[in-house]
Amino acid sequence: QQPIRIAPSILSADFARLGAEVEAITAAGADYVHVDVMDGHFVPNITIGPLVVKALRPHSNKTFDVHLMIAPVDPYVPEFAAAGADIITFHPEAGPHAHRTVQLIKSLGKKAGISLNPGTPVDVVDYLLPNVDLVLVMSVNPGFGGQKFIPQALDKIAAIRRKIDAVSESQNGRPIDLEVDGGIAADTAPAAIKAGADVLVAGTASFQGGSARYAENIARLRQ
Ligand code: DX5
Ligand code: ZN
Repeated sequence: QQPIRIAPSILSADFARLGAEVEAITAAGADYVHVDVMDGHFVPNITIGPLVVKALRPHSNKTFDVHLMIAPVDPYVPEFAAAGADIITFHPEAGPHAHRTVQLIKSLGKKAGISLNPGTPVDVVDYLLPNVDLVLVMSVNPGFGGQKFIPQALDKIAAIRRKIDAVSESQNGRPIDLEVDGGIAADTAPAAIKAGADVLVAGTASFQGGSARYAENIARLRQ
C-alpha cells in the first residue's frame, strides 16, 4: 500500500467554471484530478470528452486520472492520451479485448487502469495485472455522483490488494494503485483504506461547500 492520494472527481464541480474549479482543487491539495467520462450508452449519463480534458490540462500540473465509462474504448484512447491524460482507466466489459486496450494505452506512454463495477468479479484482473498501473474498484454503480457507498466493495478491495501485492512483488515492487470510487467521504474512507485502497476518488466530499472549503474537505479525507 502506497501513501494515500486524494483524487477529487470534477463531476461534482461547477461545469460552467471548470478551469477555475480545477485550479482551486489543485491549490487545495488534490493529488490526482479525476475526470469521469460517460457516454450515455455504457452508463446512463453523458458528461465530457477529450476536448474538455485538453482545455483543462493547462489548469493543473497534477496527474490527470481519466476514468472512461464508455463503450467501445479503443477508438477514443488516442484522443484522450493526446489531450493530456496521465492515467487512462476503462471497464473490461466495455470490450471487446481488455488486454488489447491495455496494450494500446501503454503504447501511447500512458498509465493503464482497469475498473471493476460492483457486480464484476475480481478474477477479471488476473491476466491483466502484470501490465496495468491501477485498479479502480467502484463502490457505487457508475453513472452518477452522490450515491451511497456499497459496503461489499470492501471485501473486493481486500481481495484485489492481495493480488496487487503478489504481482508487484514479482515485478520488483512495481507500484500499482488501488483506487476506490463512489460514496467516499470522511465516514467511509477509513474502511476503504483499511481494506487496502491507496487512492480515494471523491466528488461530493471534495467539492461541497464552495471553493473556500476545498482545502478543508481534502484535509479531512486525508485524515
Ligand atoms: C461515478 C463516478 C465517480 C463519482 C464519484 O460513476 O465514477 O467518480 O463522480 O462521486 P461521489 O464521490 O459523489 O460518489
Ligand atoms: Zn470515476
